[in-house]
Amino acid sequence: MHWRIALGCLVIIPVYLSASDPSFSREIQPILQKNCAGCHQPAAKSSGLDLTNYAGLSTGGKHGPAFAAGAPTDSLVIRYMTGEMKPSMPLGGSILPAHDIDTIRDWIKSGAKDDSPVEVTSTEPSTYHQAPVITALRFSPDGKFLAVGGNREILLHNADGSGIVKRLPGKAERILSIAFSADGTLLVAGGGTPSRFGEIQFWNPREGKLLRTAEVTSDTVFGASLSPDGKKVAVGCTDNTVRAFDTANAKELYKISSHENWVLATVFGTDSKRFVSVGRDRAAKLVDANAGQFLENVNQMRGELSAVARHPKKDVIVIGGEDRIPYIYMLDRPRNIKVGEELTLIRKLDPEDGAIFALDWSPDGKWIAVAGASPSVGIYDADSGAKLTACRGHSAGIYAVSFSPDGTRLATGGFDGQVRLYRTKDCVLEKAFVPVPIITGGTQ
Ligand code: HEC
Repeated sequence: MHWRIALGCLVIIPVYLSASDPSFSREIQPILQKNCAGCHQPAAKSSGLDLTNYAGLSTGGKHGPAFAAGAPTDSLVIRYMTGEMKPSMPLGGSILPAHDIDTIRDWIKSGAKDDSPVEVTSTEPSTYHQAPVITALRFSPDGKFLAVGGNREILLHNADGSGIVKRLPGKAERILSIAFSADGTLLVAGGGTPSRFGEIQFWNPREGKLLRTAEVTSDTVFGASLSPDGKKVAVGCTDNTVRAFDTANAKELYKISSHENWVLATVFGTDSKRFVSVGRDRAAKLVDANAGQFLENVNQMRGELSAVARHPKKDVIVIGGEDRIPYIYMLDRPRNIKVGEELTLIRKLDPEDGAIFALDWSPDGKWIAVAGASPSVGIYDADSGAKLTACRGHSAGIYAVSFSPDGTRLATGGFDGQVRLYRTKDCVLEKAFVPVPIITGGTQ
C-alpha cells in the first residue's frame, strides 16, 4: 500500500542535452507511444519488449536490447522499423515516415541518452503563471464545494466561486475525472502523466487527506466513475482496457479487454451491479461489475464516443462524441434483438455544433448538459429531449460540466482555463473565475 504525505507534490527536474541531439523524452518517446505502445507496453509486451520507457528499450525483448548506443544499423528498433528485419514494425501497419525513423536513428547515433524527467517529492504546492486547461470539475453532493482539477492537484472551491477552501496535491500531472461518493466522504480522481503513468487518487476531501492511490498502466486513465454503493471505481485506459478497483484498498479487481481502442468514459448502473464504458471504438459496452465480464453492446456504432452520464434514478444513459449527437439509451433490452435493431435507443437529441467531450445529468433528473468542441453548453430537457437553451461565454472547447445537486447551477471548464457558473434555467452567467492562484509579473 502506498501512503503519500498529504502535502507532497512532485517537481520535475529535466536533464539538459546539447541542442542538436534528439531528446528521448520529447521526441523519441512520443513517436514510440503513438505507433508502438499499443503492442509493446507493460501490460502487453509483444516479443517481451516494452517501448513505453527508456528502461524497456535498453532491456529489450526476446532478441536483446532494442538499441546499440552509437550504432543505429545494429539497433533492433531501426532494423525492424525499416523492414530490414521481418516482420516489419509497426506490425500490420505501414512503415513510419522517414523523418520519424531518422529522428530515432540520430538519437541512437548521438549516444541514445536518457533525458526522462526524474521525479522528486517536494512539499511545495504547484505554482501557475497562467490558467491551466480545465479537464475535470464536480460539485460535492452537499452542494458546498466545487472540486476542480489543476496541475498536480485538485482545488476545492466554495461552490459559489468565492474562494479556494483546500488544495489537494498529488502525483498525477493531470486530473481528467472527479467523482464523489453519495455521502461526500470520498473523492476519487483519475488522471496521470501522459506516456508515463495513470493514477487513481482516493481522498478524504473534508480533511484534505490522500487515503490511497493506485497506479494504472503507463498512460493517463480516463472517465473514473464510482458505483452508487461506493465500493468500486471503474476507469478507461489507453491500452483499450476498462478496469475496476476496490475503493477500500485501491486494489485492481479485474480488467476487461472488450474495446478495440481507448476507453474514455464509464458510468455505473443504479444498482452498482453493472457499468457502461464508452470509447474511441464507437462502442458503449455493458459490463457485469461483480463478475468483471462483458455483457453486451448497448448502442449501434456511429462516431467515436467520449462521454457518458446516467439518469439519477433510472438505468438510462446519455452518450456522446464525435458525431455531435447526444443519444439516450436504456441499459436493458426489452427483448432479444436482431442484428440491426436498436430497441435500446430512447431518443436522439439535436446535434451540437462540435464533437461532444462532456455530459452531465442533473441530480434532480430534469436536465442534461452537453459540452464539447463548440464554446457553448447545450441544456436539454431530459424528458422531452428538447434543447432549452445554450450557455455561452467560453472562448474555446469545454471539457468538463457539472450540475449542482439541486440542479439550479451548472459549472463548466475547458480550454480557456476559467470556471464558469451558470443559472441552469436561463444560462445567466453568474460568475467566472480562474481556479488556481496565478503568479503575476514572473519572467516565465
Ligand atoms: C500490432 C502490434 C504491434 C505494433 C503496433 C508494433 N509491434 Fe513490434 N512486435 C509485435 C510482435 C507480435 C512482435 C514479434 C514479432 C515476431 O517475432 O514474429 C514484435 C517484435 C518487435 C521487435 C523485436 C523484439 C525482440 O527482441 O524480439 C521490435 C524491435 C519491435 N517489435 C519494434 C516495434 C516498433 C519500433 C514499433 C513501432 C514503430 C512496433 N514494434 C509496433 C507487435 C507489434
